[in-house]
Amino acid sequence: MDVPQQIAQLRAEIERHNHAYYVQDAPTIPDAEYDKLFRELQALETQHPELLTADSPTQRVGGKVLDGFAPVRHAVPMLSIRTETDTEASGAFNFDTRVKNALETSNEIAYACELKFDGLAINLRYERGVLVQAATRGDGETGEDVTQNIRTIHCIPLRLQDCTAEVLEVRGEVYMSRKDFNHYNEKQREQGLPTLVNPRNGAAGTLRQLDPKLSAQRPLSFYAYGLGEVRGWTMPDTHSGILDALQTFGLPVCDERAVVQGAQALADFHQRVAAKRDALPFDIDGVVYKVNSLALQKQLGFVSREPRWAVAHKYPAEEQLTVLRDIEIQVGRTGKLTPVAKLEPVFVGGTTVSNATLHNEGEIRRKDVHIGDTVIVRRAGDVIPEVVGVVKAEKILASSSKGRKARERSISSRPREIAEKRKENRKFKKKRNFEPIRTGKKRLERKERKPFNLYKFLHGHCPVCGSHIVREEGEADWRCTGGLFCAAQRKQALMHFAGRRAMNIEELGEKLVEQLVDGGIVGTPADIFRLDMDFLANLEGVREQSVKNLLKAIELSKQPTLARLIYALGIRNVGETTAKDLARHFGSLDNLKAADETLLQQVPDVGPVVARSIAAFFAESHNCQVIEQLRMSGVQWEEYEGVTVNTLPLSGKTFVLTGTLPTMSRDEAKSKIEALGAKVAGSVSKKTDYVVAGAEAGSKLDKARELGVSVMDEQGLFQLLENHLYGGQT
Ligand code: IVH
Repeated sequence: MDVPQQIAQLRAEIERHNHAYYVQDAPTIPDAEYDKLFRELQALETQHPELLTADSPTQRVGGKVLDGFAPVRHAVPMLSIRTETDTEASGAFNFDTRVKNALETSNEIAYACELKFDGLAINLRYERGVLVQAATRGDGETGEDVTQNIRTIHCIPLRLQDCTAEVLEVRGEVYMSRKDFNHYNEKQREQGLPTLVNPRNGAAGTLRQLDPKLSAQRPLSFYAYGLGEVRGWTMPDTHSGILDALQTFGLPVCDERAVVQGAQALADFHQRVAAKRDALPFDIDGVVYKVNSLALQKQLGFVSREPRWAVAHKYPAEEQLTVLRDIEIQVGRTGKLTPVAKLEPVFVGGTTVSNATLHNEGEIRRKDVHIGDTVIVRRAGDVIPEVVGVVKAEKILASSSKGRKARERSISSRPREIAEKRKENRKFKKKRNFEPIRTGKKRLERKERKPFNLYKFLHGHCPVCGSHIVREEGEADWRCTGGLFCAAQRKQALMHFAGRRAMNIEELGEKLVEQLVDGGIVGTPADIFRLDMDFLANLEGVREQSVKNLLKAIELSKQPTLARLIYALGIRNVGETTAKDLARHFGSLDNLKAADETLLQQVPDVGPVVARSIAAFFAESHNCQVIEQLRMSGVQWEEYEGVTVNTLPLSGKTFVLTGTLPTMSRDEAKSKIEALGAKVAGSVSKKTDYVVAGAEAGSKLDKARELGVSVMDEQGLFQLLENHLYGGQT
């Protein structure tokens, strides 16, 4: 095979895997394999720059930083559709009646039903199957050229499969999935950086990035729903046929669609989607009905730039305005203090919301949220409702009548206008016990303008137990120092201890824990194992059968694995994976307890922060007491007696893995090596003892040879592991 052929084959193969991963959500090869193909292609393209083309999968983030976006005149205007905001079935019936009247028919009409994605409309122009330009809708006539940013969206093919159309403009919606949105915001929050207001703003902001490298860091997705200019392609005769064809070209088309007959079926679709709206991985703001036959569409035509053949039927907004009445501070399992907004109840995203998270002090300051403000509350999917921003005074009426666009324009941090609205709302402010409302007008205003200060707000004490609150340097969250003395932490700690992935006492739910803690019956996890019929019989509203089930579950939980027990203890920063690593590494709870921070950091993936948390946990005598009490109440966890990190056969040795091993995945090899006490490092140095090399091993192997480090293959590794497992020597 010559180089151009090789390159073409690699590109096709990579695109195929891309499509499986990003469009079909069904990966066909492991990431490492994909990376290998990608690197192979990159290497060939570097050696043969003359063969590099824009539709190569290596060129998604290739562009330069722009000064601005060039205007693009749409060959076919990008129109919008009529929107009906009522949630009743009448929307569907009215539309069907209008269509039938216009067509002067009483026959049932076939409709294509789709989701109304809540993102941004985009026009993708493919010429002979290659993506040549992507533009925003703009005013419908002229949009902006955002090709560079669109190329970073992995599910958008740079080259269509089997499409030779001279021109094919594909229209659809660019959006940010809820998962990607939450993930991005979490990362930003951790670093104290600004967060995105909602997925739609996230998508809009990302497309307007001038540096494509920045866009590439904010993952977007796309669904096709229509066409623009088309030349040299014989169109199917229905809208659903077009979408099917686009799908065969490799474009993402949402599966949540249907072709139905008549108005009732439209209303049913609307209802069916409403029921699963929360469970969808992305935001929608309604459904869209389109007359399926293109011939009928043509006959129906347009009224005032809106097609007569389509309508959007909306759902209740996922964002609403309401008044922030108060801020309450909740205490989490590890003492983390989370400010929670107490809101004037508001119907948003289909339910009434009266609490919403404010995340932390930094977020409150950044959004400049104050008690009395009119705030935007967002509730989408199964995420906790949150306050996303403050609305300034004079735009409120306009925004509630004009909808989201006006509201978005009105989100502002301009202090004077916000203070105005604040003044207006203040008369609603609820009286709080520890901070009486002051009536001196000037004083109040000055006070309210100050950035929110959580320490002052709580007078330095935990609202539940009164212990001091602290914030470690560089951290966003304040914490209660009360530990298990704090009832709030105790409750959360007990729930965590009993959790399915910890001790698995599922019957011990939130309500029961509340009762047990408030009634002084259970204080520490060890107390759970002292519960009996007598203790539980008197609890209000608890049936005898539930008590029996609980006692049985408690009994069954008494023999956890060491990893589960470590996880159940609820040590800060020790999640399930770290708990497993610790169990494997130390073999017993006593070994773990005895380890200092240096020793702890020998565990793979345990850094200074985690090591400090573990050491701090065992330094607290009450934590050690709980462990003793657990032992005495008959909880027995498995231990690998006498095994310590220093006595493991390969302790002190460092391995490096490179290339693909014939039978083991890298993770498997790693855990086998680590189980014998050795470390697995990422790069080869003089300190490396062994390099395990598989197929396509790269520079690490060269480096090992250069430094004279022992190199072995998978077989050699098996031999070595076996020798050590049975006590042999190498
Ligand atoms: S069809 C001529 N279908 O809603 C018809 N639009 O005003 C063109 N949208 O901003 C639009 N999902 O970006 C259509 N399945 C869907 C849609 C959809 C979302 C957006 C579109 C535009 C607005 C329509």
